[in-house]
Amino acid sequence: MATHSIPVTKNLHPKLASFDMNQIAFGKNFTDHMLVADYENGEWKNVEIKPYAPFEVDPSSAVLHYGQTIFEGIKAFKNEKGEVVIFRPDQNFIRFNTSAARMQMPQVPEWLFMEGMKQLIDLERAWIPSKPDASLYIRPFMIATDPFLGVRPSNSYKFMIILGPSGPYHAAPMKILIEQQYTRATPGGVGFAKNGGNYGASLYPVTLAQAKGYDQVLWTDAIEHKYVEEVGMMNVMFVIDGKIITPSLERGTVLKGVTRDSSITILREMGYEVEERNLLVSEIIEAHKKGLFQEVFGVGTAAVVSYISRLAHEEYVMDFDVDALKVAPALKNHLNDLRMGNIVDKHNWLVKL
Ligand code: COI
Repeated sequence: MATHSIPVTKNLHPKLASFDMNQIAFGKNFTDHMLVADYENGEWKNVEIKPYAPFEVDPSSAVLHYGQTIFEGIKAFKNEKGEVVIFRPDQNFIRFNTSAARMQMPQVPEWLFMEGMKQLIDLERAWIPSKPDASLYIRPFMIATDPFLGVRPSNSYKFMIILGPSGPYHAAPMKILIEQQYTRATPGGVGFAKNGGNYGASLYPVTLAQAKGYDQVLWTDAIEHKYVEEVGMMNVMFVIDGKIITPSLERGTVLKGVTRDSSITILREMGYEVEERNLLVSEIIEAHKKGLFQEVFGVGTAAVVSYISRLAHEEYVMDFDVDALKVAPALKNHLNDLRMGNIVDKHNWLVKL
């Protein structure tokens, strides 16, 4: 990868000194700088790091009307030695360009994504929390900027990276309702891509579930609502009779999660049998009736490992004692230990700054 020197304009009014590192929420605070690049006439240009600030888009910009937008979520950590590591950004880079291809957007070159991210993080080192469960959340995204209301791929785009110190997405165990009517993704659709619209479309069904006392939904397949897919914005794992089962990716309706992939590897190394396959809601309920359904949890970059205390299918409610969970906490501790440098990174997942 060639080295590119990206021009930097320093923020003369940094907010870091007034930021309270003990009050870290998810996605609320952003660092002092951002990376910006423009795509015009078939090439990336105007790459720069500059003070974090609102920017102008034309009211007719394609992204505002037709949702041509994609994003990624990545995390950087400061370990006990003060070293900064980024968790598997190469995987997010690949997925970003997979999402771009599906949304008919240009590919982002590796140097722009990776070096841009590293140079930006390097500048913002002091913003990286060193507390357990906290990290620097990295949000690369791309939007279509053609000022044109015709429905066709934009010719111009903006790629940006913003950063924010973040705590866990779901601090408390979640109550989940199995979705029976609405759909997150359909075969042939954009469910495997990190397209903004996937997330916008989830808001209404989740709000309905919240009105019934749940935090999130467990998405099921679009056709029959028989197979489980994802939980909220995370991949989902079930522990049934000592075995771990997670929905497979083959139908294109489940996001190819980086934490999902890492979790499968770690769990297998811990000695668990992990199956990636179609999983019926009825199979889960049968297992529960027989006393074999032991755990269910979400895995994702923002969420890491999220415990689930209740899963309900219509009137049938399955409760889990989160203090008695074994697999989910073991996985969470392993991921945290790896990120903090307490165990050997044998797969070279950590990219040092
Ligand atoms: C992530 O885990 O980084 C995600 O993309 C979920 C996000 C929508 C908060």
